[in-house]
Amino acid sequence: MGAAPLASAVTTVRTGAILVVTINNPPVNALGQAVRQGLAAAMQQAEADDAVAAVLLVAAGKAFIAGADIREFGKPAVPPSLPEVCRSMEECSKLVVAAIHGAALGGGLEVAMSAHYRLALPGAKLGLPEVLLGLLPGSGGTQRAPRLMGVKAATELMLSGKQLGAKAALQAGLVDRLAEGDDALAAGLAYANELLAQKAPLRRTRDIAIADPAAALAELEQLKAETAKKSRGLFSPLKIIECVQAAVQQPFDQGLATERALFLECLDSPQRAGLVHAFFAEREVAKIPEAKLAAPRPFSTIAVIGGGTMGAGITVSALDAGFAVTMIERDAESIARGQANVEKVYNGLIAKGRMTPEAKAAIMARYTPTTRYEDIAQVDLVIEAVFEDLEVKKAVFRELDRVCKSGAVLATNTSYLDIDAIADATKRPQDVIGLHFFSPANIMKLLEIVVPSKVSPDVVATAFELAKKLKKVPVRAGVCDGFIGNRILAVYKQAADFIMEDGASPYEIDAAVRAFGYPMGPFQVTDLAGGDIGWATRKRRAATRNPLARYVEVADRICERGWYGQKTGRGFYLYPEGVRVGQNDPEVLAIVDAERAKKGVTPRAFTQEEILRRYMAAMVNEGAKVVAEGIALRPLDVDVTFVAGYGFPRHRGGPMKWADMQGLPSILADIEAFAKEDPLFWQPAPLLVQLVKEGRNFDSLNQG
Ligand code: 3HC
Ligand code: NAI
Repeated sequence: MGAAPLASAVTTVRTGAILVVTINNPPVNALGQAVRQGLAAAMQQAEADDAVAAVLLVAAGKAFIAGADIREFGKPAVPPSLPEVCRSMEECSKLVVAAIHGAALGGGLEVAMSAHYRLALPGAKLGLPEVLLGLLPGSGGTQRAPRLMGVKAATELMLSGKQLGAKAALQAGLVDRLAEGDDALAAGLAYANELLAQKAPLRRTRDIAIADPAAALAELEQLKAETAKKSRGLFSPLKIIECVQAAVQQPFDQGLATERALFLECLDSPQRAGLVHAFFAEREVAKIPEAKLAAPRPFSTIAVIGGGTMGAGITVSALDAGFAVTMIERDAESIARGQANVEKVYNGLIAKGRMTPEAKAAIMARYTPTTRYEDIAQVDLVIEAVFEDLEVKKAVFRELDRVCKSGAVLATNTSYLDIDAIADATKRPQDVIGLHFFSPANIMKLLEIVVPSKVSPDVVATAFELAKKLKKVPVRAGVCDGFIGNRILAVYKQAADFIMEDGASPYEIDAAVRAFGYPMGPFQVTDLAGGDIGWATRKRRAATRNPLARYVEVADRICERGWYGQKTGRGFYLYPEGVRVGQNDPEVLAIVDAERAKKGVTPRAFTQEEILRRYMAAMVNEGAKVVAEGIALRPLDVDVTFVAGYGFPRHRGGPMKWADMQGLPSILADIEAFAKEDPLFWQPAPLLVQLVKEGRNFDSLNQG
């Protein structure tokens, strides 16, 4: 037995006739240059050493290999390339076995598929998630997966980015053997020795024939048609299908060349840049100053105050994460309604066959409804979701202050209200924080964690820990009217109103915003959320509105008619019974015309591009103000807020990333041009002006 360290990221040690190659590149064994070089050298070592009959690939740490090193994308490629490494494994004259524990994703699975045999441990997760980063498997995955799993299953795996557990991977043909336990090395050695004893052939994936090519091509045509509809302008899904078509139609090496060319096209695409930014930004948001100062408080029980739309959704989210939840409502009738709101979610799952009544009963056993605050005296964490009224909320917090044990975290789900004022209603403002969930709270990923001035760092850390347990994406926000998301939304919604009053119909604006990649336009969102909600806010703010500021009254005219959107059957759109997508309403257009006439506006035409330039400039400009004021820690926090909570197209990275990719000078130039029409609304954010002057972008503020 002799040890020969190659590079620290990959070590080799010979055990009998088996060369054990261990990848050790924390945290997730990404295939950075050192790993690729180490693997290439290990394969050369195996070829050169007559005492080696087989190679066993294993990995240290929590993952097998999480894929290519995403941080290297966009930088000059340094050899050896991953396709070369994979080829050297597949063509190795010694038996190559991969023992997979944890994640084998993207390039990690491509490495495994280049081995001659694969074994998986119980916790293994196998997948080709490149599509989620705007890419396609670029190291032979599109050619090898169809050979191992069949064309349809492989293509679906690549188009969805889903991960298969060990058993599913065995059934799919991706692995050959399952092992018990958690010792990949021992299981791998046993398997490799068994294969050697059997004189198992060098089974190269490239040599496997694709069954029934004609049927496979027909399946691909069908997937192509479905994907073109579903992928809404995404670039890489259709390229994946092209690669699989090549796998069926071309010899293996030619298929690899096709894959390489299409991979490089994806790598260069702005969609890849946007999606990779979103991937890292979603991880960066949890890096907050408070995490360095304090550990989270322990918590296992949760109370939710209010069982309406949000309270019920938050309750479901907490129950789903395994917490015991007590819900407080005002009276027996409201408690019954709150419980019905919670059960409705689970009943829906049962109706769809996605939950059993027994599973529901087990979850509901952790749920306790009550009207008495005394019942939550020992609860660790309270989330208030009562009416959006400062006095009502203050009264609730006074009650919480009276009954809750010392050290309990007291959170409010307010959308706009001053959390400092809510905290000051208690004698323990250090324990009070904002937890702004989004509707439906059991589904939406975003959780704005709003940090008032007196809150203690361990409460902030606790809120981030809660987000992790609830599987939410947390973003730290400062206190202001609307925090990060709703504050910026209010501004670009106003821009949309101005565009409407100046000449574009709400339907044209929604269409332009959808063409950008949003699932819905702003007027569709108003109809979905209920027009009355925004109307109430506008009425509340009427007294403090700057009388010189432009104000569009169309939405008020619509609400005055009782047209609150989907729930009333009409809003900006018409929703006759049974119709899912709203229909254009000539009466709404007449209202818009009447408002224009009242204001003396001569309507003019807007192209989709003109609509978007205003809409996005408003969003980015307010985003810059939110960053400069410290309401968002960094531009990437704004990006994550919009991608995770407001339907911003993920492949564009978020508004600030999008702005960087457009070039900040052009956005500033637009704002300055629009300011000639309305200098009060279009005031360039000083941060934007400064960055343009210094030739920098928003991303320069994300570092460090
Ligand atoms: N490259 C570089 N860094 C990576 C990485 C990768 N492929 N995958 C994860 N990381 C980093 C994360 O950024 C994070 O860094 P941080 O601690 O500095 O924030 C750290 O590793 C830990 O990651 P997570 O916080 O996500 O840890 P989890 O345990 O929650 O999840 C995981 C682990 C399931 C592996 C998850 O990180 C993941 O899904 N990673 C991406 C997998 C992927 O998309 N692979 C395909 C890459 S593209 C490719 O392979 C192209 C090829 O076909 C040529
Ligand atoms: P809702 O009207 O659906 O529910 C409020 C519930 O609170 C009602 O069931 C009511 O009976 C209960 N309630 C009122 N006073 C109470 C008290 N003193 N004690 C106990 N229960 C009381 O309202 P919704 O939409 O759930 O909103 C709740 C909060 O969440 C508000 O602050 C709102 O701004 C915020 N929010 C709402 C979002 C939405 O999309 N609806 C999104 C994010 C936050």
